[in-house]
Amino acid sequence: MSFWRTKSVEASIRETDEPGHRLRKKLTGLDLMVFGVGVIVGTGIFVITGQQAAMNAGPAIVVSFLIAGVTCALAALCYAEFASTVPVAGSAYTFGYATLGEFVAWVIGWDLVLELALGAAVVARGWSAYAQLLFDLPPSIAGDAAVVDVAAIAIVVALGVLAVLGTKLSGVFTGVVVAIKVGIVLFVVVAGLRYIDPANYSPYVPAPQPAEGGAEGGLLHTPLTQVLLGLEPSHFGLWGVVAAASVVFFSFIGFDIVATTAEETRRPQRDIPVGILGSLLVVTVLYMAVSAVVTGMRPYTELNTAAPLAEAFVGVGADWAVDLISAGGIIGITTVVLVLMMGQARIFFAMARDGLLPSWLARVHPRFGTPWAVTAVTVVIVAALAGFVPLAALSELVSIGTLFAFVVVSVGVVVLRRTRPDLPRAFRVPLVPLLPGLAVLACLWLMLNLPVETWLRFGIWMALGVVIYVLYGHRNSRLARREREERGGSGSGA
Ligand code: ALA
Repeated sequence: MSFWRTKSVEASIRETDEPGHRLRKKLTGLDLMVFGVGVIVGTGIFVITGQQAAMNAGPAIVVSFLIAGVTCALAALCYAEFASTVPVAGSAYTFGYATLGEFVAWVIGWDLVLELALGAAVVARGWSAYAQLLFDLPPSIAGDAAVVDVAAIAIVVALGVLAVLGTKLSGVFTGVVVAIKVGIVLFVVVAGLRYIDPANYSPYVPAPQPAEGGAEGGLLHTPLTQVLLGLEPSHFGLWGVVAAASVVFFSFIGFDIVATTAEETRRPQRDIPVGILGSLLVVTVLYMAVSAVVTGMRPYTELNTAAPLAEAFVGVGADWAVDLISAGGIIGITTVVLVLMMGQARIFFAMARDGLLPSWLARVHPRFGTPWAVTAVTVVIVAALAGFVPLAALSELVSIGTLFAFVVVSVGVVVLRRTRPDLPRAFRVPLVPLLPGLAVLACLWLMLNLPVETWLRFGIWMALGVVIYVLYGHRNSRLARREREERGGSGSGA
């Protein structure tokens, strides 16, 4: 039964109010929106768009973005409710602890490693692809063909050092980076418009093509739905549009991190939903516009490159735009890597403080006041992944991990309405349980459309997590120790 022990919402909130752990409450809804766009727009739109247009959706990648955006909006409403009910740092992990119990909290925390640490690694690889183009680095050390991606490792380590030194993204700095990033994306849209050749839009949804390698060889790369339904493994067609939605979902990751700043907002009730939904709306529009333009500029079959936004301009002879786009990409993507790594460090930190991970990880640096131990561990993990594993192999695992967290949060919202109807909820998801139910179904649907191989990797990762919990966290968590003390106390008194 102790698998389901929960940490009360009040305890979570109280702990954040302990002296020395208090964060300043000064952010507004607009701040969150800017932060959201800063965290969300990165490798997804700068790299993955082109690859998915070329491999799965063709020009209909625009529709894939819409599907992914709507799914995120549903999940975002649930995130907004939980963040305004349990306004403490630590994201879905803390929320899980308060609603669904320790085991589920651990599972989410473990799962979030896929979103944050692995996500940071994928994003760093995207960074490296644009760095390769801009600085003309040898393809063996940077970009997606690199044997060891030295550029990706370098950016991860450099940002890790900044994080240990206590660098925070100041509001002004984030604002400037977001302005550059949005500026570049808008530039691609506006400058690209005149190069659009309507012929590139036809066929809009390319006809299904059998997967290379046939039914046998292609199995691992086939979306699970096609296997479950006994369909011939294929690319493109309507299934391809959904499969691409599951992958480009990656581009929206980060809006949930906005929820983790709930503790720092002035009026979480209003600011959180405005921040989360606002940034989501902005990026969905941007993504659809960019993908519409880029697939109009070049035939979709030619977009499977490491830096497709810049290379679309090379393809139409506008080489002058390449350095500009690459530089904007590099600046914009950098903040995403930093925020994902810091998010990972924060969650590891929360888990170590709760005793689910060894407590030495929760050590704070005496001079810089930063959780240096977890940050260092995070940097080593992210650098190793970014250095050696190609982007495509990883981004789908990031998507499945994040979608799974969204499913748990959406379920958690409904559970908490039942178990703690008394808690003040500044923001309430409308139409409960219908809307959270739809969020769960939409996320599950996208998960099911990811390849078999991704499911296998996900299964192995989660199974490993369960083993670690049983062997370690279950016995060593703070709640477990408290339970033992209480039992010991009452035992000696009896
Ligand atoms: N959404 C983030 C990106 O696209 C992870 O880079």
